Amino acid sequence: MTKSSLIDRATEIAKGFEVSPELLNKCVDHFIFQANEGLRSNSNKRGLPMIPSFVTDIPTGKEKGLFLAVDLGGTNFRVCSVTLNGDNTFHMTHVKHPVPKDLFAGTSTQLFEFFAEKILIFVQQHHSDQFSSIKEGNEKLKLGFTFSFPVNQTALNKGTLLRWTKSFSIDDTVNQDVVKLLQDQLDKKLVPCIVSALVNDTVGTLMSRAYSTTPEDGYTLIGSIFGTGTNGCYMEDIENIKKLSKDSIPENTKGMVINTEWGSFDNDLKYLPNTKYDEAIDKLTPNPKFHMFEKRISGMFLGETLRQALVDLYKEKLIFQNVDDMGEKFFKPWTLDSSNLALIEVDDSTDQIITSLLFNQSIHLPTTVEERKAIKILVKAISKRAAYLSSIPLAGIVIKTNSLEKHDLIDIGADGSVIQYYPGFHENVQEALKLINRIGVSGEKRINIRIAKDGSGVGAALCASVA
Ligand code: GLC
Repeated sequence: MTKSSLIDRATEIAKGFEVSPELLNKCVDHFIFQANEGLRSNSNKRGLPMIPSFVTDIPTGKEKGLFLAVDLGGTNFRVCSVTLNGDNTFHMTHVKHPVPKDLFAGTSTQLFEFFAEKILIFVQQHHSDQFSSIKEGNEKLKLGFTFSFPVNQTALNKGTLLRWTKSFSIDDTVNQDVVKLLQDQLDKKLVPCIVSALVNDTVGTLMSRAYSTTPEDGYTLIGSIFGTGTNGCYMEDIENIKKLSKDSIPENTKGMVINTEWGSFDNDLKYLPNTKYDEAIDKLTPNPKFHMFEKRISGMFLGETLRQALVDLYKEKLIFQNVDDMGEKFFKPWTLDSSNLALIEVDDSTDQIITSLLFNQSIHLPTTVEERKAIKILVKAISKRAAYLSSIPLAGIVIKTNSLEKHDLIDIGADGSVIQYYPGFHENVQEALKLINRIGVSGEKRINIRIAKDGSGVGAALCASVA
């Protein structure tokens, strides 16, 4: 075996991750088709969920008051209090708690008890005056609950879990109203809060971005997340949301924010690229055959895609052939994460020594210079595919809402580790937007993806403020 056969093979695998402009354009059309179908009815369980959020107004920046916000993301539970100052600014205090591993697959009660406990401690520490004012008959603190999973939302403060995503799999939460689950536990502990808004993290991101922008930034069209998971929301005209019954819509409502759950775009893989590594990963997840778009894009899956490809090269006897003891870690799923890939992507050190250290530390494997070159080829291909595919729903929403015709500048609020920290990801998404026929180079110049800091905290507070 010559060394270059490893590079050749890595280059061949990398080719399998390329996304052509033709494919991008087909996917955008299919996204628009699936979005319209999802707005019409909920009958296609494998389609785009397009969940009405019951948020009907975008903030103006003038909102005021003190609110609580809690957020269950991929791995952490965050408790915050937010003071909205009414002038596009806010003040926030927050505490983050990792969710204990055993709660990911425990019972609903255990999980929601854990949340209530952390909220109780937070309110005692930061808003102790609240306890005494409640005794005096004052109102409870309004709390916005950011819950970043697909729910069937039937009111601003009501929503049943459709299915878990990311690493959670707690059977008895499915089909339950998660607001009630949290409120019951808060009431048990006499925490002076009322859960008044259930918010997807994308909706929070849209709200906080809209609160912070000034007219020069353009029209905030989309709230998006590119982190452990990926998803987005936007404001849809009420007459297009055909599946909403008339009596569930408040009077004079012009539009409603729709949580697309675009992680579930093209679950049937009509157009999405599908490598054998994607197939292997899908089988490892708690939600096989669902969220197929997310599994090609989000931070949770990028590292595992690389590991799967490397295991393949190992089985083909092209890599790690001189290692005496391969150990266990390399063969264990999920041992590489997207932060590892981010370092490899930009490793310009002599002989990629940083990659060498990283492999030593994370999976206890020595690597040769040649192997590190091959690894970099794969990493670049995996992340570029993720970024290119990410442009699909953004373009789909811009086109579907005729936003390029309506607004000079389109602002997209984005949160999540991948868009914030993965080198070149943001730029690659913008590059891909240029390749979409109905956007093109001139359209792309008018679309700006901007980081919306602390979307879930401030955004949830804003939703609670309108409740
Ligand atoms: C997953 C969830 C979705 C969330 C996204 C980003 O796709 O299903 O609700 O918005 O992750 O956190």
